[in-house]
Amino acid sequence: MYKLGHYVLSKIDPEFAHNLSIKSLKMGIYPTFKNQNTESLEQIIWGRGFKTPIGLSAGFDKNAEVFPALFKIGFSFVETGTVTPLPQKGNPKPRIHRFKKYDAIVNSLGFNNKGLDQFRKNILNFSNRVDYKDKVMGINIGNNKNTIDILDDLKILFENLYRFGDYITVNLSSPNTPGLRDNLKGNNFDRIVKEIYKLREQNNSKIPILFKISPDISPQDKKDIALIALANDIDGLILTNTTVDKSILNSQLSGGLSGKPLAKKSNELIRDFYTLTSGKIKIIGVGGIFTAEDVIQKMHYGASLVQLYSSFIFNGPYFINELNRDLSQAIQEMGYKNISEIIGLQV
Ligand SMILES: Cc1cc2nc3c(=O)[nH]c(=O)nc-3n(C[C@H](O)[C@H](O)[C@H](O)COP(=O)(O)O)c2cc1C
Repeated sequence: MYKLGHYVLSKIDPEFAHNLSIKSLKMGIYPTFKNQNTESLEQIIWGRGFKTPIGLSAGFDKNAEVFPALFKIGFSFVETGTVTPLPQKGNPKPRIHRFKKYDAIVNSLGFNNKGLDQFRKNILNFSNRVDYKDKVMGINIGNNKNTIDILDDLKILFENLYRFGDYITVNLSSPNTPGLRDNLKGNNFDRIVKEIYKLREQNNSKIPILFKISPDISPQDKKDIALIALANDIDGLILTNTTVDKSILNSQLSGGLSGKPLAKKSNELIRDFYTLTSGKIKIIGVGGIFTAEDVIQKMHYGASLVQLYSSFIFNGPYFINELNRDLSQAIQEMGYKNISEIIGLQV
């Protein structure tokens, strides 16, 4: 039944299909699985227990409406958001396009979301009803389109949300919010990092704060970001968001490309940052993961954890459970006791 449902979703307008998926997850219409033995995949990072290294990246559960259901279909962690302070409609439709031939998606959504107040209400609704205590929920924050100083929005979001998640991601890398990626330039990035960590200290919080980076940065930006990350001892980097390089598709669409064609760029960034930071900054690798080998490749290049989005859209609700199983088998066959042993082996 779920396979048929996923087939139908793959044939209709992608944003309509997304909204239907959220509805069915809300209504409890999704397959559930027996717990697998994935002991070899368990890690403790930032004091949080990750049952497997595979998480769902930001943009699927933008309003924190369905993350407990997403844990049940196999994700060990889910990054909710991007949430902005005020509700926002985003860019004109159609703004999600699938390219099945390339296993790729182009989106130009522009942080469409219901805003901070609804986001917090949604999380509070769950806390008494669903037990997701052994799972990890991240909150990805971003600015409204018309905000002049991004820090004004980031501060409001941090102060209102840091109690509700297991980590916070500051999104500086969507190509669909004008000017956002300028914040990855040396001085701008340094100011944001310092101010957000200062705010954490003022609130006596220890919540890990990560920064999500674009794959389209220059070699100089890489060096600057790595130095700033080390100097401020940041908790982690998420590498990467979508790329504006859509040459492979031969298409005039605006927006960011995700899926298989992103893997190479994302992997390069992971390897470069792992080298530039001597492995001292934790990396979550994201971009074009479709198989257990793809996960292993990113971890070999220095990622401690990984996330995916596009392959979940193309492969449906059984996929994550299968990926966890394949990864666990591969690690055992390679003769490792724990997956953490492979991090950075091919750098
Ligand atoms: C439809 C769509 C919406 C997305 N929305 C967000 C978002 O709100 N915030 C964010 O940080 N990344 C967002 N992303 C980027 C993903 O989180 C991820 O970084 C990117 O898709 C690369 O992973 P993938 O190749 O596995 O899809 C979005 C991606 C897609 C396809």
